[in-house]
Amino acid sequence: MATVDIYRLVKRYGAEEVIHGIDLAIRDGEFISLIGASGCGKSTLLRMIAGLEDISGGTISIDGREVNDVAPKNRDIAMVFQNYALYPHLSVADNMGFSLKLRDVPKPEISRAVKEAADLLGLTPYLDRMPKALSGGQRQRVAMGRAIVRKPRVFLFDEPLSNLDAKLRVQMRAEIKALQRRLGTTSIYVTHDQIEAMTMSDRIVILNGGRVEQVGAPLDLYDRPANLFVATFIGSPAMNLIDATTRRDGEQLFAETDEGVRMPLENHAVAEGTAVTIGVRPEHLALADVATPGALRIAIDLIEPTGHESHVFGRLGRHPLIVTHSGRVAETTSAGVIVAPGGVHVFDRSSGRRIDAPAASEGSEKR
Ligand SMILES: Nc1ncnc2c1ncn2[C@@H]1O[C@H](COP(=O)(O)OP(=O)(O)OP(=O)(O)O)[C@@H](O)[C@H]1O
Ligand SMILES: [Mg+2]
Repeated sequence: MATVDIYRLVKRYGAEEVIHGIDLAIRDGEFISLIGASGCGKSTLLRMIAGLEDISGGTISIDGREVNDVAPKNRDIAMVFQNYALYPHLSVADNMGFSLKLRDVPKPEISRAVKEAADLLGLTPYLDRMPKALSGGQRQRVAMGRAIVRKPRVFLFDEPLSNLDAKLRVQMRAEIKALQRRLGTTSIYVTHDQIEAMTMSDRIVILNGGRVEQVGAPLDLYDRPANLFVATFIGSPAMNLIDATTRRDGEQLFAETDEGVRMPLENHAVAEGTAVTIGVRPEHLALADVATPGALRIAIDLIEPTGHESHVFGRLGRHPLIVTHSGRVAETTSAGVIVAPGGVHVFDRSSGRRIDAPAASEGSEKR
């Protein structure tokens, strides 16, 4: 087990800088996910931790010791890749024991380590098979087993589940998480699947163009996104965004759209007349009778039933708006919507930064 400390980390390929000075302190035993759009630098960051990419600036330390110039094999790290990278001509047992064999570990010790990992992963019946005779999920487990037998201080995963079908992914993510809990090994997990990140992680790092947008516990990111990027990245369907200007009417602060639609705010720390973007998650909008006091009237374009809930695609004036309704919705062309108390997020439109209501202004927000 180990801590991993990343300090002002920079990566350049030739003249092009792709990682722009990242700071990140990963705790001992933590399961942390790196997520972000394609090309944002997730794999590059992971490969730098593994020692597979040179560091252009800053430092990486494992358990307090700088490893910038330590060779990959001496970093005591095991990496699980998307394509598993199994040796096709070696049996499951030999694949799992290969790294120990390279290190001249005595044969009985290798067999013991392989047997232990196979038991843990449900691979015991398959030890003599070749990789081509395994299902995708079983191959994935062999790749995990190969990482486990080394008893590394840190596991690195680069989209290990993306080659599996949806159902198997759900099963494997639960297995990996349970295994990590049991072993307690610090794990850094790259994915572009936000549900994977939300369900598996102690904390999530959201990357955007080689920079960290926010680091936090999954539900903190969901409940208190630090900026518009995080607000729209986490959550599906995505948070509704509406441009508005703050106005005061007596004691009450409002956000008012250019079409005159008003949404009450909770004394957010924002001056009157500020250009803001209002964010409301689809599940914080409830369908209601148009005549309900405080209901906003929306036009409805499309209703998508998913079974347990319905996604209602509508418009508030010009602004597209999605409402998630738990249960089924009858076909209709208009409805009222009520915003749940506390369901309004306010962002400064020019900086994109979150503006907090006073009661919620302390907390775990980081940038
Ligand atoms: N060897 C290389 N030479 C030049 N540029 C590179 C090299 N490897 C990666 N890059 C660039 O660095 C940036 C980050 O790439 P990286 O592979 O880390 O993205 P990623 O977040 O893992 O994306 P994906 O989700 O598609 O795997 C990209 O703009 C990519 O084009
Ligand atoms: Mg990648």
